[in-house]
Amino acid sequence: MNLGVNIDHVATLRNARGGIEPCALEAALICEMAGASAITVHLREDRRHIKDNDVINLKKNLKARINLEMAATDEMQKIAMDLAPYSCCIVPEKRQELTTEGGLDVIQNKNRIKELIKALHSKNIIVSLFIDPDKEQVKAAAEAGSDYIELHTGAFSNAFKTENEQAEFNKLKEAAGYAQTLGLKVNAGHGLNYENVSLMNKIEGLCELNIGHSIISRAVFVGLETAVREMIELI
Ligand code: PXP
Repeated sequence: MNLGVNIDHVATLRNARGGIEPCALEAALICEMAGASAITVHLREDRRHIKDNDVINLKKNLKARINLEMAATDEMQKIAMDLAPYSCCIVPEKRQELTTEGGLDVIQNKNRIKELIKALHSKNIIVSLFIDPDKEQVKAAAEAGSDYIELHTGAFSNAFKTENEQAEFNKLKEAAGYAQTLGLKVNAGHGLNYENVSLMNKIEGLCELNIGHSIISRAVFVGLETAVREMIELI
């Protein structure tokens, strides 16, 4: 299983003072050196952390795959098609949220998502849809022509070490299994940390985990390279 490191929070810290440090590209290069297979960045409509220039710089300088998280808007479609990252992960986006709160409703937005996937495929960009572990959403993702799904592990992470942990874990496992029978490849992420991540090894066929907050938080104490290496060790 591979690790994709989400470096949005490096940009959050940089933007806190409006300057140039810490440098998002430098962070990405350290993650790459430490063994991360992909660097994930979420270019939000309000540009609260990652800015357009960050994505351009990463594309120019990184060997690791760039996974661009984005909403299904016309603006983001144009940016993605111009920049051609290795992959795009389509996420729902609300202005007021602190982080991506739920999965994409592929069922309700099927036509738009289908059209977006077709456009991204025309530039050879691999597409993933960030969805809750719900069979109907998985089915809709396959019908829309997605290559991957990324299962939202937020509910599992919140339920970790509570009576709901097993039920939330089972939802992930079942959704991952079902997706693979439909020919989808499966990633997962959100809320994963050094304590709960090992359980992801019990889900067969997961390709990549996208992890941001816990790695960047740990990096404050042990440094980014060590934080990434420790996570890779666990997965
Ligand atoms: N995957 C997706 C689609 C996300 O939106 C996020 C958060 O930006 C992550 C993974 C990483 O979540 P976390 O920062 O909680 O590890």
